[in-house]
Amino acid sequence: MSSLLFHAILLLFANAASLAKAKIHYHDFVIQATPVKRLCNTHSTITVNGQFPGPTLDVNNGDTLVVKVVNRAQYNLTIHWHGVRQMRTAWADGPEFITQCPIKPGGSYTYRFTIQGQEGTLWWHAHSSWLRATVYGALVIHPKEGTSYPFPKPKRETPILLGEWWDANPIDVIRQATRTGAAPNVSNAYTINGQPGDLYKCSSQDTTIVHVDSGETNLLRVINAGLNQQLFFTVANHKFTVVGADASYAKPFTTSVLMLGPGQTTDVLITANQPPARYYMAARAYASAQGVPFDNTTTTAILEYKAAPCPAKGVKINPTFPSLPAFNDTATATAFTSSFRSARKVEVPTETDENLFFTVGLGLNNCPAGASSSSCQGPNGTRFTASMNNVSFVLPSNFSLLQAHQQGIPGVFSTDFPSVPPVKFDYTGNVSRSLWQPISATKLYKLKYGARVQIVLQGTSIFTAENHPIHLHGYDFYILAEGFGNFNPQTDTSKFNLVDPPLRNTASVPVNGWSVIRFVADNPGVWIMHCHLDVHITWGLAMAFLVENGVTELEALEEPPVDLPVC
Ligand code: C2O
Repeated sequence: MSSLLFHAILLLFANAASLAKAKIHYHDFVIQATPVKRLCNTHSTITVNGQFPGPTLDVNNGDTLVVKVVNRAQYNLTIHWHGVRQMRTAWADGPEFITQCPIKPGGSYTYRFTIQGQEGTLWWHAHSSWLRATVYGALVIHPKEGTSYPFPKPKRETPILLGEWWDANPIDVIRQATRTGAAPNVSNAYTINGQPGDLYKCSSQDTTIVHVDSGETNLLRVINAGLNQQLFFTVANHKFTVVGADASYAKPFTTSVLMLGPGQTTDVLITANQPPARYYMAARAYASAQGVPFDNTTTTAILEYKAAPCPAKGVKINPTFPSLPAFNDTATATAFTSSFRSARKVEVPTETDENLFFTVGLGLNNCPAGASSSSCQGPNGTRFTASMNNVSFVLPSNFSLLQAHQQGIPGVFSTDFPSVPPVKFDYTGNVSRSLWQPISATKLYKLKYGARVQIVLQGTSIFTAENHPIHLHGYDFYILAEGFGNFNPQTDTSKFNLVDPPLRNTASVPVNGWSVIRFVADNPGVWIMHCHLDVHITWGLAMAFLVENGVTELEALEEPPVDLPVC
């Protein structure tokens, strides 16, 4: 046999073997209170396996994850696999009271799901109250076995988790806000891989360091795991090549600064092509709302070349510091988010079956009759609220929406979420005070299996306009266009990118502007869509889709796992 033929046969076998090699990864997540010291103080912090941030999960596209979550903390809790499509496995999605009841203290639940067709960076986080402030970690999805990246393989890969830290128990922070009706306290620090960095007290000895060799390329998997703040991220003297976001590949483009809303991920290549030294990576707020308090601190980590000169004894050489955009630099944020294209031409539905128009924004509730003034400490004696299409979303408490749907339990939700705003108004103008108070309800919008859906997400200027990171569970969607002001169906449709729009799970709806998204409803279940600023989800900036089963078994929701928690 010629050696060429022999090798061809070998290759064939190797390929066949790799095709069959989708793996099952088993993990145990023990949720527990752990002492964590930051900013000079130790807090009893809720963690996974005592780690903060939690463990990074590494898988290949096509693999299955089986994660047994044991709750040894004193709070109810669930884990959400942010961005995982969960085809037919909505039971494993995780948002509390949407797809499952919370796991009670002492209880456990095993999440089982398969990664299908997604490659890049996703993450996981608690989806109960504000526990995700400390309960989060990276989910790295490598290319399917036997395939490779659509870009030269980087020498190293480093997850960069941007977080937000309170010098308090985050659950106390949100409970106090819920009691008073006022906005919750802003965080005390941002973090990179759990560390605030050199610009905060008691922190510099633990600053995160990312090592590089001169000339090598590193793939940074940047995740905004912060609760309430969009963040700019940059590295001194280096440029990024963006190659993906939200576990979909992007057409590469270069930039020196990223902007990520909470929930979003961005994969970037960075080449160590500068003189060997130490360079700061830094993140700080993109704060789009005017006159609203925010955490204006800056977190840093250090990109350190291995050949960086050692400082002489007693001399301190500070790393080079990058310039960061101004906090309110909407132009830079917009230039970044609108640079995304899919890596290839994609199949966007050209016709749509559902044309939805959802307003997204804040509101103020008048102080309820008989309530004490201490519970109405929002602006002018009100309580903060938020809504989509004037409905402020209320979670059920006795059943999850998915259980109620699957078992036909009446009275838990209704399916009359409005497809358009009940009242049309100048959404981004000077909105009459009479339109500031939404109704509170648990309303779903029903979608037929396979429906081609378009949603205009329209920001409002009620109370204050701001950028909203809108996240849809169970789906990736194409972002066809975004813009400022009110969406105009006559003129703005000409801006739609139907060739290579980016595929994402979280859209940054511009401050005082709109985004248009499309997806095909090919995943049955109940799927929440919400603002990923946790303070806004607390106030009701959410709704849920009920996607019906299709005809065949492969188009239907699986049976619920036997250990699904009950309320
Ligand atoms: Cu990271 Cu409901 O989301």
